[in-house]
Amino acid sequence: MSDELIFADEVHPTEQAPTAVRPWKILIVDDDEEVHSITKLALRNFTFDDRPLTFLHAYSGKEGIDTLQQNPDVAVCLLDVVMETEHAGLDTANAIRSDLKNGFVRIVLRTGQPGQAPEETIIAEYDINDYKEKTELTRGKLHTLIYSCLRSYRDIIALDRSRQGLERILESSTQLQQKTYLKDFAKGILEQITAILSPEEDAFYAKNDGVAAFEHSGELKVIAGTGEFADKESENAYQIIPAECREIIDDEEPGFKSKMTSAGFICMYRSSEEHTGLLFMRELKTRNELENHLLQMFCRNALTAFENISLRTLLEESQREIVYLLGDAVEHRSKETGYHLKRVSEISFVLATKCGLSQETARSIREAAPLHDLGKIAIPDSILNKPAKLDAEEWEVMKSHSEVGYEMLHSSDKPLLKLGAEIARDHHERWDGTGYPAGKKGDEIGIAGRITAIADVFDALCSRRVYKSPWDMKRVEEYFQLQRGLHFDPDLVDLLFEHLDEFIEIQQNYPDPE
Ligand code: C2E
Ligand code: SIN
Ligand code: SIN
Ligand code: SIN
Ligand code: FE
Ligand code: FE
Repeated sequence: MSDELIFADEVHPTEQAPTAVRPWKILIVDDDEEVHSITKLALRNFTFDDRPLTFLHAYSGKEGIDTLQQNPDVAVCLLDVVMETEHAGLDTANAIRSDLKNGFVRIVLRTGQPGQAPEETIIAEYDINDYKEKTELTRGKLHTLIYSCLRSYRDIIALDRSRQGLERILESSTQLQQKTYLKDFAKGILEQITAILSPEEDAFYAKNDGVAAFEHSGELKVIAGTGEFADKESENAYQIIPAECREIIDDEEPGFKSKMTSAGFICMYRSSEEHTGLLFMRELKTRNELENHLLQMFCRNALTAFENISLRTLLEESQREIVYLLGDAVEHRSKETGYHLKRVSEISFVLATKCGLSQETARSIREAAPLHDLGKIAIPDSILNKPAKLDAEEWEVMKSHSEVGYEMLHSSDKPLLKLGAEIARDHHERWDGTGYPAGKKGDEIGIAGRITAIADVFDALCSRRVYKSPWDMKRVEEYFQLQRGLHFDPDLVDLLFEHLDEFIEIQQNYPDPE
């Protein structure tokens, strides 16, 4: 069966150099040979993100499924409707989603008999992405189609990678905490960094030349090295690290700093004069802003733990700690200093308890609430920290933080992260249905989302933001009175007022530093 397939002659995966540009795979499934050649001709020289196309060909639905099974990285499948049966294409689409469980490939159905089935019904029922008539095979139309399919495929894959990266951070953090010896721990960090940034299929090619160093009586000593640095242990890190990166080491300000240079990635955590940790990785690359933030988040996290281990103190090992560390990385970037997450958690917990949820549920909400804005790690700094009102375009980007947070968390099997996903998705929905991302109304919005919405806004209004000053309590109260039943669940607003002193106390107990 599969030797009938004509594989494109321009790719030989095994001979590809590791750095070669990988083409986007387009699968054409059609029993009409001419459709294959016309399509291929029309898309000759097409590139997207500097990557060309390569074509796979199948002549029946069954062949199409086999080809996809062997090539799970096909980006777009152009699928004929009528082949071995009247509805072979529809069956194939079904099999791709349900049997192969491939939710990534973009499927475009193409029919020679327009009007055969209503387009809307087909798109909804078969989870396909577009429906075209074969008369639309012109060069211009095909270019537009493939362009938009590849764009959404790329975004889906990027998001999935970020989710995988996040899961690796969680796993890595747990694994690292089990390493008692400083040297093992340091080596672990270097290995995990590579793993975080390398999707499975690239892991083989990933190079790992890294140094972990720690300050010992005034000297930055290499604790562990990998790759070309494997034999540098106990040497002075300053001598080994390229000159471009030394600026970070020379900076004596305490705190976490990092830099991506042409010589590699360096980051350093300086807690005080005696305790300084440093990581350097040669040839480390991030593919997008999101990966960049994941990397920062992990390194900050790891270097803090590094210090703790060196002091032989045991880290608290719980999901809760990790959740705070993740949430904290976002807070850190958005300059919402200090205790915002803590206050949102505590306010949510009190509201959850007062509205009659079980202690267990209320505690889960308290622990997952810090994840509500996790998606902000995907928002560029220029927007996140703009000291003024956002324009319409920036606002559209900003709003994506709800769904991004959800996408990053929802497929985790950890219940706390699942709840975090729900909260991330729902915390900007409004009771009257005018919120985002879905415009859900009333109790279509989960209770955890309704609770964190109130906690988040209550705290945001009381606090300073780059774009606003803190409001006084009278103004905050007026806002909640006005928005009762509009922005917020009216029952929850009543509870807020009934127990206002408790919420004000939380504000006072965890003040932002001046
Ligand atoms: P955030 O700063 O954590 O604010 C959370 C929510 O509190 C906001 O959700 C909004 O419902 C409420 N809130 C905060 N400040 C005000 C205010 O001055 N007036 C009123 N009426 N409500 C306020 P929203 O609007 O969905 O915004 C989500 C996030 O988008 C904000 O999180 C913030 O990071 C960002 N953002 C919103 N507007 C601006 C802006 O004008 N400039 C910048 N740089 N960021 C903004
Ligand atoms: C891509 O080709 O870059 C996305 C698909 C993948 O790498 O798995
Ligand atoms: C603003 O948009 O200027 C802040 C108020 C809000 O976030 O809704
Ligand atoms: C609920 O709706 O589940 C109870 C909490 C409330 O809305 O007050
Ligand atoms: Fe938010
Ligand atoms: Fe927030």
